[in-house]
Amino acid sequence: MCGIVGYVGPRPSQDILLAGLARLEYRGYDSAGIAVIDEQGDLGMRKKAGKLAMLRDSLAEHPLAAGTTGIGHTRWATHGGPTDVNAHPHLADDDKLAVIHNGIIENFNVLRDELISEGVTFRSETDTEVAAALLGREYRASGDLASAFRAVVNRLEGAFTLLAMHEDQPGVVVGARRNSPLVIGLGEGENFLGSDVAAFVEHTRKALAIGQDQMVTITPSSVEVTDFDGNPVEAQPFDVSWDAAAAEKGGWPSFMAKEVAEQPDAVANTIRGRVQGDQVVIPELDGLDELFIGIDRVIITACGTASYAALVGKYAIEQWARVPVDVELAHEFRYRDPVIGDKTLVISISQSGETMDTLMAVKYARERGARTLSVCNTQGATIPRESDAVVYTHAGPEVAVASTKAFSAQITALLLLGLHMGRVRGSLSDSAASDVAELQALPEKIAQVLAEEQEHVAQLAGWMADTRSVLFLGRHVGYPIALEGALKLKEISYIHAEGFAAGELKHGPIALIEPGQPVFVIVPSPRHSALVHSKVVSNIQEIRARGARVIVIAEEGDAAVLPFADEVIRIPLTGAMFEPVLAVVPLQIFAMALATAKGLDVDQPRNLAKSVTVE
Ligand code: M6R
Repeated sequence: MCGIVGYVGPRPSQDILLAGLARLEYRGYDSAGIAVIDEQGDLGMRKKAGKLAMLRDSLAEHPLAAGTTGIGHTRWATHGGPTDVNAHPHLADDDKLAVIHNGIIENFNVLRDELISEGVTFRSETDTEVAAALLGREYRASGDLASAFRAVVNRLEGAFTLLAMHEDQPGVVVGARRNSPLVIGLGEGENFLGSDVAAFVEHTRKALAIGQDQMVTITPSSVEVTDFDGNPVEAQPFDVSWDAAAAEKGGWPSFMAKEVAEQPDAVANTIRGRVQGDQVVIPELDGLDELFIGIDRVIITACGTASYAALVGKYAIEQWARVPVDVELAHEFRYRDPVIGDKTLVISISQSGETMDTLMAVKYARERGARTLSVCNTQGATIPRESDAVVYTHAGPEVAVASTKAFSAQITALLLLGLHMGRVRGSLSDSAASDVAELQALPEKIAQVLAEEQEHVAQLAGWMADTRSVLFLGRHVGYPIALEGALKLKEISYIHAEGFAAGELKHGPIALIEPGQPVFVIVPSPRHSALVHSKVVSNIQEIRARGARVIVIAEEGDAAVLPFADEVIRIPLTGAMFEPVLAVVPLQIFAMALATAKGLDVDQPRNLAKSVTVE
């Protein structure tokens, strides 16, 4: 939920920290701060409520003394509101020690009471300041930052990434993680720590992933990783597959606009290397044939947009691999008593790979004996590390809070997985080769939707800027797209929006229809099922009869919708399972254009953060 960056090396750290925070700001943007140990060995700190620009302005006006060791933080508030005082870093040991933190320290109250009884006073309402004060106490006792830090992390419960530095030990930053991300960037004579590789990708693409319950000490020339007992641990090296330019706006008005436009490439990258002839073969799943043949059930678990990708995955995997699939919201999954066994495959989907609810669901599934596979976009993230296997989506960095290209890449990965499992289980029909061809044609068809419908949809959004509520209807794989269309709109335009299964309409939601009510309807192709198509056309007639303003998304040439539609958005012909990837694009454009027409920040919507690392 918060972004963390640390630096030790020969260069002035302030600019490196601010640049890193700018790339991490998607993780939280209600306050930001940095601390630097200057050349005299004094620790300077500045923090400000509001977006990173507030901190930048303050530093431009009153710079901190230059130094080459530093830590920086961008916050999404949990304990205590977004104020200057609650912003990180938090100081202790007579302000010689600075700490930043991501996550929630669940036992902070007990620790706080303990420290108060020893005479410690607190300035903020945060759990983080408690960790800082504890570290101050331990440091005074041992005089060694790493061992004091180890003593602290062993007392903390909950989820945390913590970084700390002390002015007595310039050139040293310590970090630790539990159920929250932290990666190491390896430079030449300098080293970095970050919540993700975006923090340092402009300086190095060589990284180390730190495991659960591990801590790290970096100096300009060394990196030492241990477990929480101090035993040395080998961190897993990886190369970052994208460069700094991929995480820049590159002339686009927003990251969201850029990411919507990148979808043809994102989907092509998900498919790349996973089709051999007319078959899908995912090399990362080599050796898992027995598992795929032996399972009797699949559960897909995810949150938000990823859970809608999961719903599409359910249809695809059931159709191609002939195995029952349930979709479970990750935050519901482990709070009941689900039936899981060693023949259950639990697939988790997460763009960030660090959504706490999803991570906990994966751990829970493993504890119950299930096999686990994750679909993830972020290398070195926690969820893939906790899973038996991973299919990376390779969509590139997604910065805008509202997920777009990650969603189409997630669906694509699930389509690949369905075709891969179907091949291994011998359950594919004779038409599988044409499905593989459709899959490969997706990038080009997404590009066509972008080219042909962008302006039309944006215009529509402009006309609807005063709309107070929008409904979305779909059937079959159009249903998850209705849910996603509604979520996109809520998320960035703050307009009430609901997605429904079209068949559910008459069971209640139709009462919402009044004259002028805008309703998007995702119409399935009549070529795949004349029956489902005709049912959706009937649903359209039902709402039209009650005065709804109907905006239809239908395939080229579908004339049956024309008499009942106020607006028609066209998508190219494709296979039934592939329609979601095309139909979602106009809905993303609509949400983005409507939010823009209302003058809202589409990349950083209120109250939200990109990765939700708290439960
Ligand atoms: O990183 P994840 O895919 O695990 O994130 C899951 C959801 O928090 C995420 O999809 C959220 O719903 C998006 N902001 C939607 O646009």
